[in-house]
Amino acid sequence: MTVEELLVFSKKYIHKDYSKILLGDLLNLNPLELLLHLDLEVESEKVNVFKKEIEAIRNNIPLQYVLGYTNFYGNKLIVNKNVLIPRFETEELVENTIKYINKYFNYDIDILDLGCGSGAIGLCLKQKINKVNTKVTLLDISEEALKVAKENSKNLNIEVDFIKNDMLQNINKRYDVIISNPPYISYDENIEEIVKKNEPHLALFAPENGLYYYKKILSTINKNIKEKYMIAFEIGYKQKEAIVNLINTYLKNVEIISLKDMQNRDRMIFIISKNLIK
Ligand SMILES: C[S@@+](CC[C@H](N)C(=O)[O-])C[C@H]1O[C@@H](n2cnc3c(N)ncnc32)[C@H](O)[C@@H]1O
Repeated sequence: MTVEELLVFSKKYIHKDYSKILLGDLLNLNPLELLLHLDLEVESEKVNVFKKEIEAIRNNIPLQYVLGYTNFYGNKLIVNKNVLIPRFETEELVENTIKYINKYFNYDIDILDLGCGSGAIGLCLKQKINKVNTKVTLLDISEEALKVAKENSKNLNIEVDFIKNDMLQNINKRYDVIISNPPYISYDENIEEIVKKNEPHLALFAPENGLYYYKKILSTINKNIKEKYMIAFEIGYKQKEAIVNLINTYLKNVEIISLKDMQNRDRMIFIISKNLIK
């Protein structure tokens, strides 16, 4: 079949934008190049793969899992059903974290990414922070997620350390920056079916109205932060007040900065030790 025939065929089943992305990916052509190659004969093996991909999209599998990758902050990251698909809000978290690190730390730092999943946050920080000896450690409880993060680290040639662990339990090392996008969706929240059906529940849901991991992290974090430190969290848009209360329970002498995402919702919290700001 030709590119044109395949595009016409697939349009009956899935949105034409998805067809162009999937077929373009298979043939290594961008959507514009694809349209310039409408007469190209596609080998039967690729036609079969394309048909299987159409079926997967029809079965409500996210495009990123079907492709096997996503783009995050300019990097192509492998994703599969064992890791959350990194979101736009998390790019905003990374962007602001880089901004604060550049503003407050003028020396090499140690960073810990708690619940690293695909490695999106930690790998980007290591790549974008302009300090030669910044060390980044990626931690997750899921062996399968760490496998994906390791593959991404290798493909992108970004050197980081990895730890399989239950958050900060039994970790004694101190860090300058601890960042986390933990699971924070409460069990009774209505979320999109495609997310609920496909993405790992270990990455999505948390007890105690979604606050469990913030409490777990904050209640033991004093043993893991240096004298001058920053903690950065992605949060659920209704959780700001409860998390600020938790911060005030467990940490002293800090400045709390909360930022909104592009949809004007409270989605990030930065906790900066006051001795760093002065
Ligand atoms: C919301 S996902 C974030 C993934 C990635 N950091 C991102 O932003 O795309 C949360 C991650 O926390 C991990 N996780 C869940 N419980 C954990 C625990 N007790 N200790 C460490 N990691 C945990 C999950 O496996 C998942 O990868």
